[in-house]
Amino acid sequence: MISTQRWRVVRLPAAAAGFAGDVRAGLLATPRRLPAKYLYDALGSLLFDAITALPEYYLTRAEREILACEGAAIVAAAGAPDELVELGGGSGEKTELLVRPALAAATALRLHALDIAEEALEAAAGRLLERHPALTVYGYAGDYDAGLRAVQLEGRRALMLFLGSNIGNLEHAEACALLRRMRAVLRCGDALLLGTDLRKSPAVIEAAYDDALGVTAAFERNILVRINRELGGTFDLARFRHVASYDPGSGCVASYLVCLRSQDVHIAELGLDLRIHAGETIHTESSYKYSEAEIDAMAAAGGFELAGRWYDRGHLFALSLLRAAGVP
Ligand code: AVI
Repeated sequence: MISTQRWRVVRLPAAAAGFAGDVRAGLLATPRRLPAKYLYDALGSLLFDAITALPEYYLTRAEREILACEGAAIVAAAGAPDELVELGGGSGEKTELLVRPALAAATALRLHALDIAEEALEAAAGRLLERHPALTVYGYAGDYDAGLRAVQLEGRRALMLFLGSNIGNLEHAEACALLRRMRAVLRCGDALLLGTDLRKSPAVIEAAYDDALGVTAAFERNILVRINRELGGTFDLARFRHVASYDPGSGCVASYLVCLRSQDVHIAELGLDLRIHAGETIHTESSYKYSEAEIDAMAAAGGFELAGRWYDRGHLFALSLLRAAGVP
């Protein structure tokens, strides 16, 4: 529990269907699927943090390298913002690489942090507030849409952050629609810093989503643990294997849980009984990789224009500064 005047948390109303409704709809769909946002309960957030430290998962290191080297240049190009709005900031470690230069350029800074995982949100805010006395954090616990509706910009210049290739977890139409909703919150001249993973060798990408230690497999299978715990499910985890396959045509890594042996699953809270056959899959996540042209097209569809782009030394990842263009 943070006790400071500089922290406020807003608990957002759950989306209409919520976890139970989405699990029911997804497990009854053909093929079966579960929305990736439910991977991030308290344990899922910790497992994701562990993924970011894996040797195979280059994304976080590459993005951190760009922020560490170019944070001040990015803040300057964004017009020395006095307000940051971050969607899905997780541990807040990368946020801090922008908070520092932003505070060097402005006397005070307000951070609106939107995250589905309230525990992770509070932990990240606590760390940032302790280190930066001129920072105020407004936390919004819930999904992005509800968070974007709740944010009210009060400062002179805002920079929105959507880092970590989080956009890659959305299908293209959803990604463009979310960019348009972000644009609607911003004013002309405000900007969005968008982190995207770039297209590259399939072997490098596939290793990042199927690490030798099995942390990614645990992260993906945790969604079944969550259904068992929160909805009274009887999934036998030993009968599911995590598989990630990259399609260079679409640039998408699709993650699935593959059923190894048929099983009957009962989900008490849903009053649902399912027979899942050997070989059946449950889709858990899409992770898109982009070319620069694809990033620019997506930005334009969202109402933004490119104002700057930075890369890590290995050219694995890109941070694009997108200026809010015209009328939303
Ligand atoms: C959060 N998101 C951008 C990660 C990704 O790369 O798609 C989630 C993840 N899934 C497996 N490994 C990491």
